[in-house]
Amino acid sequence: MPGTDPSHSPGSRPLPGQGRTAVVTGASSGIGAASALSLADQGAKVAIAARRKDRLDALAAQIEARGGAAAVFETDVTDQQQAADLIERTVAQWGRLDTLVNNAGVMLLGPVVGADVTEWQRMVELNVLGLLYCAHAALPHLLSAAESSPRRVADMVNISSVAGRVPRNGSGVYNATKHGVGAFSEALRQEVTKRHVRVSLVEPGATDTELASHNRPEIQEVMQQRFSGMERMRAEDIADAITYIVTRPRHVAVNEMLIRPTDQDA
Ligand SMILES: NC(=O)c1ccc[n+]([C@@H]2O[C@H](COP(=O)([O-])OP(=O)(O)OC[C@H]3O[C@@H](n4cnc5c(N)ncnc54)[C@H](OP(=O)(O)O)[C@@H]3O)[C@@H](O)[C@H]2O)c1
Repeated sequence: MPGTDPSHSPGSRPLPGQGRTAVVTGASSGIGAASALSLADQGAKVAIAARRKDRLDALAAQIEARGGAAAVFETDVTDQQQAADLIERTVAQWGRLDTLVNNAGVMLLGPVVGADVTEWQRMVELNVLGLLYCAHAALPHLLSAAESSPRRVADMVNISSVAGRVPRNGSGVYNATKHGVGAFSEALRQEVTKRHVRVSLVEPGATDTELASHNRPEIQEVMQQRFSGMERMRAEDIADAITYIVTRPRHVAVNEMLIRPTDQDA
């Protein structure tokens, strides 16, 4: 509720995200929803994007009930125009873009031999192209925020995975998309870091979200066996990491963060 957190009260110390604007893709569930909530709790105005508008509306209501500001953008980021509109409408509404959390993703596992190629297309279109479209649209605004905003720094946080570091039999195309996210992020980091746009890569391990539920039942069974008895991370654990990254002082850039559940050995 507004006013229940003493740090929101007038006259208290400014929150680390105060005055900032952020776009979070894939904010209708899991890591994206938790990150939007966490960034809003830090004082950022948050544009929340995904395809399920009812979920986004519920999240916006939750953010506003905690004293934060949210704008809902029903967006399919695999459509370049929709990705560009998301960024432009955010800037039109709030005048600036300081942070992009490029989070929307899908993980469809299974053997390469005999695979359903439409699953590969979904992963490449979302995990790679969707992320690239958002990055492309956001970069001019992030560069401008890094030049002229009060903090003179801006952030792009790209969500990869342990699968972006460690290939596994049965994860080939998901591995390919997330390795791609890692390679792109490092190349872009080198391109823009001296202009004070920080590009960070977050690589979560097993986290309790809806991600696995999009797989075929036989694949879900294999995954359940692999992770049985393991205490998985919560979406909030990854949101904490993202919030930490974007609230560092201007001279500190967290380039990469690999985060596994303590029980996850590979
Ligand atoms: N959970 C894990 O164990 C884990 C581990 C490593 C990495 N990750 C990565 O973390 C990220 C978030 O996943 P999650 O675990 O939070 O899973 P999740 O709960 O399934 O969230 C995925 C989000 O992506 C959105 N999305 C899907 N297609 C979209 C599209 N075309 N346009 C816009 N948004 C779209 C979904 O919303 P709509 O369906 O409403 O569009 C949803 O909000 C992904 O990149 C994933 O690869 C997760």
